[in-house]
Amino acid sequence: MSSDLKSYLAEKRDLIDRHLDTHMPSEQELPGKIHEAMRYSVFAGGKRLRPILTLAAAEACGGDEQDALFPACATELLHTYSLVHDDLPAMDDDDLRRGRPTSHVVFGEAIAVLAGDALQAEAFRFLAETPANVTYSVADYLREFANCAGSKLLIGGQVLDLEGEGEEVNLSLEQLIAIHERKTAALLTSSIRLGAMSAGASAGQLEALTTFGYNLGLAFQVIDDILDVTADTATLGKTAGKDEASDKSTYPAILGLEKSREEAHRLTKLAMDALAVLGDDAAHLSAIAHYLLDREY
Ligand code: IPE
Ligand code: IPE
Ligand code: MG
Ligand code: MG
Ligand code: MG
Repeated sequence: MSSDLKSYLAEKRDLIDRHLDTHMPSEQELPGKIHEAMRYSVFAGGKRLRPILTLAAAEACGGDEQDALFPACATELLHTYSLVHDDLPAMDDDDLRRGRPTSHVVFGEAIAVLAGDALQAEAFRFLAETPANVTYSVADYLREFANCAGSKLLIGGQVLDLEGEGEEVNLSLEQLIAIHERKTAALLTSSIRLGAMSAGASAGQLEALTTFGYNLGLAFQVIDDILDVTADTATLGKTAGKDEASDKSTYPAILGLEKSREEAHRLTKLAMDALAVLGDDAAHLSAIAHYLLDREY
C-alpha cells in the first residue's frame, strides 16, 4: 500500500471513529448494558471500509466532507449490526470478530440480538442528519438505505446464504452471484451512492459510482471468501476456514482458488473502468480498489 493511501485511510478512520464516539449514546445512558454492547462491537477495530468509501465518493463528486460524515457513519453502524447478527449461533455461529470474542459470547444472545437491532436503528438516526441539497432530500437518503438494508438486498442475501449452506447444496455461479450482490455488494454500493448523493452528484456521476460500487462490492466478497481459505485466524481477526467447515457456498468452493482470484481481478477492473469519467477526483477511490484486491484481512 502506498504511504499516501495509508495516511489517507488512517486519517479517515480517525475522523469516522471520533464522529461515531461523539454521536452514539454513551455507556452512562440508561440502559448502560445495551450501549456498552453497541460500542463494544463498533469500536472493536474494523477496517471502516464502507464509511471511507462514502467519504471518498463525496470527494470524487466535489462534495464537502462534513456533509458526508453522518451517512458514512450510518453505513458503519448498519454493517456492524449485520456482523453482530451474522455471528449469532442461529446464523454463522462465530465466536471471534475483529480480533475479539463476538457480542453474544460476551453479552449473551439476547443482548447481542438487541444490540444489533439498536445499531440498525442508530444507523437510520445518523443518516437522517445528512444535509439535504438541491438534488437530494433526506427522504432520498432514507429510501436508498432502507432499500439496501431490507429483505430484497442485505437481508435477502443473508437468507440466500443460509439456504446455500450444506453438503447437498450445489449452487450455480449465477445463484452464488445472487447471494453476494445482496449480502455484500448492496451495502458497498449504497455507501458509495450516499457519499455521492450528499455531494449533490449528477446523474452521470451517480451512475458511474453505482457501477463502481457493484463490481467492487462483488470483488470484496470474492476476496473475503478467498481469505477464509488462505489466511489465518490471527490475521483475519475472525475464524479462518469457517466457510468450508459450514459447507458454505463460496467462490473458492464453486470455482476453485485460482479462478476466484481471476474473478476478483476481473471485477476490480470493471470497477476501475467505471471510474474513468470521474477523472482525478476519484484517485482515492481508485487507490482503495487496488488495495482491496491485495488486502490480507
Ligand atoms: C466482513 O466485512 C463482512 C463481509 C461483508 C465480507 P469487513 O471485512 O469489511 O469487516 P470489518 O469491518 O473490517 O471488520
Ligand atoms: C457477511 O458475510 C455478510 C453480512 C454480514 C451481511 P460473511 O458471513 O462471509 O462474513 P464474515 O466472513 O463472517 O465476516
Ligand atoms: Mg454469513
Ligand atoms: Mg459470517
Ligand atoms: Mg466470510
